[in-house]
Amino acid sequence: MLQIDLSVFPVLETERLILRRLDINDAPTVFTLRSSPEIMQYIPVPLTQTIEEAETYIHSIDKRMEEKECVNWAITLKENNVMIGNIGFYRMKLEHYRSEAGYSTLPEFNGKGYVTEALQAIINYGFSTMKLHSIEALVDPDNIGSIKVLEKCGFEKEGHLKENWFFNGKFLDTVIYSKLNKGV
Ligand SMILES: CC(C)(COP(=O)(O)OP(=O)(O)OC[C@H]1O[C@@H](n2cnc3c(N)ncnc32)[C@H](O)[C@@H]1OP(=O)(O)O)[C@@H](O)C(=O)NCCC(=O)NCCS
Repeated sequence: MLQIDLSVFPVLETERLILRRLDINDAPTVFTLRSSPEIMQYIPVPLTQTIEEAETYIHSIDKRMEEKECVNWAITLKENNVMIGNIGFYRMKLEHYRSEAGYSTLPEFNGKGYVTEALQAIINYGFSTMKLHSIEALVDPDNIGSIKVLEKCGFEKEGHLKENWFFNGKFLDTVIYSKLNKGV
């Protein structure tokens, strides 16, 4: 089983971004990210309804991180500290040296390569420091933006599950992408 050390939160820095720990002051941004039908279009979980729910979500992320079940970063712009989204390893599968990555950003910051830059940073951290063997991502087949991000970061399509997820009265497809740690 893979052992990971999260006793000191891993702040990550890229050319344009700082990935830092999410905190309770981020609740308004988390609320926007998780309550917007546009942003959540391809993420099959119920929309967040209130700021309090967003706060509860942040607390749950903290608790799950203490239990080494996830690592979640706020994506912030280096130039002005503004939080533009979040990214993380939302599900750890330590017995398989594997984790599931996910991300979400505010639409006004899309198309600038920020998510690709952030994902590359957590891949490097996941492979070099955490010593993961593989990272997976589960995507709606219509989520072209997310698929582009994954392909730019070297993920490969491994499977297409048909109508495996029942949400809001519909059976949805899931595409699985993954990337192996090849020691680079
Ligand atoms: C998907 C998402 C993360 C992409 O973020 P982003 O900041 O646009 O990502 P990047 O700029 O790094 O790269 C996106 C690429 O896809 C392209 N793209 C985005 N949406 C597209 C679309 N609908 N059709 C075609 N291309 C699209 C962009 O032009 C860019 O390509 P380029 O590098 O060739 O210019 C963002 O739209 C988002 O947060 N969506 C809502 C949450 C979500 O769906 N998360 C993923 C769940 S698996």
